[in-house]
Amino acid sequence: SRARIVFSGIQPTGIPHLGNFLGALQNWTKLQQKAHREDALLFAIVGWHSLTLPQNPQALQVARREMLAALLAVGLDPKRSIIFHQDENPHHTELAWILNCITPMGKLLRMTTWKARLAVAQNARHDSEVDESELNAGLFTYPVLQAADILAYRATHVPVGEDQKQHLELARDIAGIFNRTFKPLFPLPRYVATPTRRIASLKSPGTKMSKSSPDLASRILLTDTDAQIKSKIRGAITDSIQGITYDPLHRPGASNLLTILAACTGAEGAEGVAEMAKRYEDKGHGELKADVTEAVMELMRQPRSEFERLRGEIGYLAEVARDGAVRARERSEVTMREVRKLVGL
Ligand code: ADP
Ligand code: NA
Repeated sequence: SRARIVFSGIQPTGIPHLGNFLGALQNWTKLQQKAHREDALLFAIVGWHSLTLPQNPQALQVARREMLAALLAVGLDPKRSIIFHQDENPHHTELAWILNCITPMGKLLRMTTWKARLAVAQNARHDSEVDESELNAGLFTYPVLQAADILAYRATHVPVGEDQKQHLELARDIAGIFNRTFKPLFPLPRYVATPTRRIASLKSPGTKMSKSSPDLASRILLTDTDAQIKSKIRGAITDSIQGITYDPLHRPGASNLLTILAACTGAEGAEGVAEMAKRYEDKGHGELKADVTEAVMELMRQPRSEFERLRGEIGYLAEVARDGAVRARERSEVTMREVRKLVGL
């Protein structure tokens, strides 16, 4: 079997939440454990992506460092995986520029993330006439940067949440365009589905739990104390229907709690959730919430204390970042030498 090159990233936009943990980070550490000797694993903290939305510069510096601490806290091992800051490897932006020049605008206009941003801008202005000329160009082209993140390492496997699936399809499209225009260089990266596809917001369970929501009660943070976990889950929006059923469309709140419980207790995938639903069909929301609380507290205990220990280890974190950036650049330089030659630079 050929060696796999695994790549994934996370934005340094705040303390990671339960959705990041169950939908991405936990899966990354599992992939690391299962990896063969010859496989390469790269995990990037994608600072350039975070600039598509306004950031406080001081807060961003702290968030970059703390995201690195979080990746180590959940079990990524810098001896086994290349853990680095995207913004410390200029090959990402160099390749993104070249890929921008072969990517049709039409493909970017079809990205649902772009359409969603446009809708947010329109809502904020109460004006459906606001058009894309109001939004920054980075918001429009960041899926191309994401393609560059992946293709710079000629990654073969990309473990991301369901929200990123469309962007990965775009990366495959762009790789195909490059290969046809110049020479077959990029393998088409494969989507690695996470057993837990999507954790919903605790406050508006029709939407995903996200770092960018202003409502802190909508998500459970890696740093939350047991008391905070308890109170957030107690306050999670459910419904007034008797008994528990798994029905994401009509009962998104209860279904989300079942998904969280299944994921936290290792009952993976659709079967795990169905099994969990059966156990609670005659029970109430109170009992479900109490059990979810226990399971989340148990799951977060170890990574939380690791994170609290690591976040102050400034020197060690800087060392890990430096080493990661060197190793990442060595790999992407091999790709970039080929790319430059093929396009005539
Ligand atoms: P956020 O949207 O919270 O800012 P990122 O964009 O940094 O998170 O995404 C980091 C990783 O976490 C991605 O692989 C993404 O698919 C995953 N992810 C983010 N939110 C969720 C969620 N609510 N449920 C499952 N996975 C998620
Ligand atoms: Na996001």
